[in-house]
Amino acid sequence: MKKTILCIGAGYVGGPTMAVMADNCPDYKVIVVDMNEERINAWNSDELPIYEPGLDEVVKRARNRNLFFSTDIIAGIKEASIIFVSVNTPTKTFGAGAGKAADLQFWEKTARDIIEHSKHDKIVVEKSTLPVRTAEAMRRILQSNTKNLNFDIISNPEFMAEGTAVTDLQTPDRVLIGALETVSGQQAMQRIKDIYLHWVPEEKIKTTNLWSSELSKLVSNAMLAQRISSVNSISALCEKTDANILEVSAAMGMDSRIGAKFLRAGIGFGGSCFKKDILNLVYLCEFYGLPEVAAYWEQVVKINEYQATRFVSKILNNMFNSVASKKIAIFGFAFKADTGDTRESPAITVSKMLLEERATLAIHDPEALKNAKLDLADETGDISYHCDPYKTAEGAHAIVVLTDWKQFQGYDYERIFKSMEKPAFIFDGRNILDHKKLFKLGFNVFPLGQREYSHLTEIEK
Ligand code: NAD
Ligand code: UGA
Repeated sequence: MKKTILCIGAGYVGGPTMAVMADNCPDYKVIVVDMNEERINAWNSDELPIYEPGLDEVVKRARNRNLFFSTDIIAGIKEASIIFVSVNTPTKTFGAGAGKAADLQFWEKTARDIIEHSKHDKIVVEKSTLPVRTAEAMRRILQSNTKNLNFDIISNPEFMAEGTAVTDLQTPDRVLIGALETVSGQQAMQRIKDIYLHWVPEEKIKTTNLWSSELSKLVSNAMLAQRISSVNSISALCEKTDANILEVSAAMGMDSRIGAKFLRAGIGFGGSCFKKDILNLVYLCEFYGLPEVAAYWEQVVKINEYQATRFVSKILNNMFNSVASKKIAIFGFAFKADTGDTRESPAITVSKMLLEERATLAIHDPEALKNAKLDLADETGDISYHCDPYKTAEGAHAIVVLTDWKQFQGYDYERIFKSMEKPAFIFDGRNILDHKKLFKLGFNVFPLGQREYSHLTEIEK
């Protein structure tokens, strides 16, 4: 094989990214390492550590051909000439910048591992999402080596979304590669570009300076999240004015300058990155003395929190101001459909608030039950977890839809209605069900940003 590529960090990004890379580049050996032995064992087994449509096939094709998963970080560093780093970069929970700035301790540790174990020059690629100008700090750390080795730093942020990772990686909208404008930097950039050219058309590969690349990643996430918060804020206004958020989004989205994607109102965005990346952007703006810019972006997170709280208030207000001792069936716990990931899922916030109100929770999700149990492990209260939606809803007063899983649309709601307490409520936090049909079956239906369908009289309300 031509060269060895190493990826440090075998998570939601490192695993799929490198599997697709190895699949498309049979002339490269790709090693993915992680300090988490359980994760590496899972990558080497038939039950991969993450659920991602299409991933099993890709991994099976490449694994042990030119794709290898290992815990031997040192051997990987020694062997590879190109090192992608996709370790986690969570929000700092301590010290300066706590609650906003990125915690770069995992990144710095990998940089120090690279210095210690390298025997020849290397290209180090930032795959993790990082604050703008991180490469400068990394360059200083890496160049502090006393072995006279040269390290080129490249920024190559990842834009895949969970649930569609394989198609996003296979046919990306763009691949972004940032490098220093030095001879060595430009040569390193070309070597990374050569890898992607195996399967990505050249016109989709955008090259920039290092800082533009780092910042573009943060801003892309902030812009996507901002669209969701914008549309969610308008969903509140729709409920006051009898406008319908689906119609408003569709009408806006027909303007080609606005575009139709990312205008789905819901209970708010979750996932490991939007919130942390916006808060990081806010921190950077404050750091660089731009408080007005910081406040603008911080509002995106505030509206996201408002939307989840507003949804819980809607549940309470319509269930006679009390859910204490009432069974609530939660449909969906993952932060979005087609993933088992629950990091920052709005379902966590909603469930905790309902538990505080002393509701009994029955939680159903096709892929996320294991993570849901971990997320709610410290909660006191009556919680059960179910693969079967019908068991989940049996004897419940309300169904609360928190994830946009397609299969929720195909359930037998007539059967479900019959098994529930009356009056039976559905709160559709993702606007995915057929509300009129459910109303005809007897449900009181409360979507987001749309009219409610209620059988209750004004006095009952
Ligand atoms: P993750 O937590 O799933 O995976 C990170 C992995 O790195 C973990 O398995 C951890 O054990 C490992 N790790 C940490 N420090 C290490 C070290 N010193 N040596 C070896 N292994 C180490 O995180 P993720 O979701 O894959 O995200 C990784 C980065 O990619 C983050 O910066 C994130 O913002 C960014 N990103 C994530 C997504 C996504 O969809 N999850 C998409 C684009 C970008
Ligand atoms: C997001 C970005 O879409 C990726 O480009 C980026 O690489 C990634 O973050 C990252 O950096 O981690 P992801 O979080 O996996 O990907 O999933 P999204 O599809 O963006 O959904 C995020 C959240 O927004 C979900 O909770 C989803 O339900 C919600 N959402 C999305 C809406 O509420 N409305 C929409 O119209 C779209």
